[in-house]
Amino acid sequence: MPNFLEQYRYFWPRTSLQTLPNWQAMKDKHIFVRHLPESTEELTIDSRWPGFFPSPICFVTTTDGAQVGLEKVVGPSIVNRFPYVLALSFCIKEISERHHVRRAFTDMLESNGSVAIQFLPPGEELNRAMNAITTIPEEKTYVRIAHSGLSTRKALTSNAPVFGSAYMVYEASLVKPGKDFDGNPIYSQPWIDVGSHRIYFLEINAIQLRKDIAEGRSQILWRSLPAWETQSQLQEAVSVGERPIEDGNYKKGYTPHYAFPSAGTIAFEADTIENGMAVKYLPPLPQDQVEVDNDRARWPCFFPSSVGMITSWSPEGYPNLMPCGSTTIVSRHPLVITPCVSYARINERYAPRASLDIIRRTGKFGCGVPFINDVVIGAIRYAGNISLAKDCQKLPHAGLQVEVDDWAPVLPALPVHFDCQVIGEVTLGTHIMFLGEVRRIRVRPDVTPENPIEWCPWADIVPSRVS
Ligand SMILES: Cc1cc2nc3c(=O)[nH]c(=O)nc-3n(C[C@H](O)[C@H](O)[C@H](O)COP(=O)(O)O)c2cc1C
Repeated sequence: MPNFLEQYRYFWPRTSLQTLPNWQAMKDKHIFVRHLPESTEELTIDSRWPGFFPSPICFVTTTDGAQVGLEKVVGPSIVNRFPYVLALSFCIKEISERHHVRRAFTDMLESNGSVAIQFLPPGEELNRAMNAITTIPEEKTYVRIAHSGLSTRKALTSNAPVFGSAYMVYEASLVKPGKDFDGNPIYSQPWIDVGSHRIYFLEINAIQLRKDIAEGRSQILWRSLPAWETQSQLQEAVSVGERPIEDGNYKKGYTPHYAFPSAGTIAFEADTIENGMAVKYLPPLPQDQVEVDNDRARWPCFFPSSVGMITSWSPEGYPNLMPCGSTTIVSRHPLVITPCVSYARINERYAPRASLDIIRRTGKFGCGVPFINDVVIGAIRYAGNISLAKDCQKLPHAGLQVEVDDWAPVLPALPVHFDCQVIGEVTLGTHIMFLGEVRRIRVRPDVTPENPIEWCPWADIVPSRVS
C-alpha cells in the first residue's frame, strides 16, 4: 500500500469477535459464526456492518434546480453492461445515527433524476469533501458543497455540480423503461426498495477522466482486494488434478493491483476534451443491436470494484464458484448482498452463467471475501474464466479446498464468508441482480484485531511509470 493512502486504511475487526456476544466460537470447526438478521435493539446499539466486505466509496452530487446536494456512497457498483447501469443505494429507514434516512438528498435525486458520481484523489480536497458530509447533517445537504470550500462546475449532461478536483466523473440519470436483448421489458421502475435502503439504477451518459490519466501520463492505482495474512494453514492440501483444455478465445485477466491505463487495460476513447477532462459520451445502445464483440463489451473506463466469491451447489452436487466483480452490499437491515450474474447471450464475454440456474434453483448462495494471496488470485483467474458447464471439477481445479456445508460450499481459505438467502432478483438487461439476505457470517479464527483485514476504499493517482 502506498504510504500516502495509509491514512485511509480501514481495518476489520476492531474488537475481538471472541468478546462480542453476537459471535459464537464453533470449537469443533475453529471458526466464528454470527447469525443474522439481528434485533432492532442490537442494531440501534451498533449498526456498523456486521462482517467485512470490501467496498469502494464515491461522492455523489445532484440538484433540484434550486439547491445542490452532496453525499458519499459506500459500495457504488456497475451492475449491468447494456444498458450501462450503476447502482447506488441510500438509507430510507431510520436505524441509528450511522444509518439514517437520506431524504433531502434522495428527494432532489428523484425530482431531477441526474447525478454526478465522482472520485477525488486522496489528499486535502477529498478530506474536505468527507468532512463536509460528516459535519453537516443530511437535512442541510445543500450547504455541504459550499462548506467544503471546493470549486465546482456543472456536469456536461445535467446541472449536477462536479468538483474541480475530481479525477473521474460518471454522469448518470435514472434508467428509463426499456427492453433487453430478447425483447423482454426491463426497468419498469428506476429504483427498488430493499430492506433499509433504496437502490437507484442509473444509466451512465458520460464519463469524464482527467486528461493526464486519459493520455497515460498519470495512472489510477486501485487495489481491488483487501490485504490479510493467515496465521495458520491457509487450507488443507488440494489436489488440483488435470485441468481441461480450455477452449474459446476470450480470457479475462485478473490482478488485484490494478493500474489504469496500462498495457492490460482498455484505452479511454475520448470524444472531446472539456475543462481539462477527456470526455466520453455513452449514447444508449440502438434497439436493434443484438451483437456486441468482446472488446466493445469491455467497460470503457476504470471503475473501482472488488470481487465476491459466489459459491453454490449444482443439482448434481458439484460445488461451484463464480468470482463476481459486480458484487456489493445494498441494504444494512437486513444485510443484503447483490451479485450481478450475466444472463444475456451476447458474446463469449457475456454468456449465461451456470451459477444463474443453480442459484435460482436452490435460492441460496455463499459469498466469500478473497484477499491478496497467490492461491486465491490463481483461483479467481481460473474460476472466473471457465464455467461449471465446461468443468464440473472447477473448484478443485481452481485450487481451493471446499468445506461441505448444507447452505453453500464454503472456501476455508477465505477470511470471511456470508451465507445468503435469495429474497428476490432484478433483471437489468444483461445481468440479473440477486438479492441475497445474509443469514450467517463465518470468520476464520485468525482474523483478529491483531491480525485484521486491511482495506482502502480509495484509489491513488500517481505519475505514470511508463512514459
Ligand atoms: C475478476 C472477475 C470478475 C468477474 N465478474 C463477473 C460479474 O460481475 N458477473 C458475471 O456474470 N461474471 C463475472 N465474471 C465471469 C465469471 O466469473 C465467469 O464467467 C465464470 O466462469 C462463470 O462461472 P459459471 O458459469 O460456472 O457460473 C468475472 C470474472 C472475473 C475473473
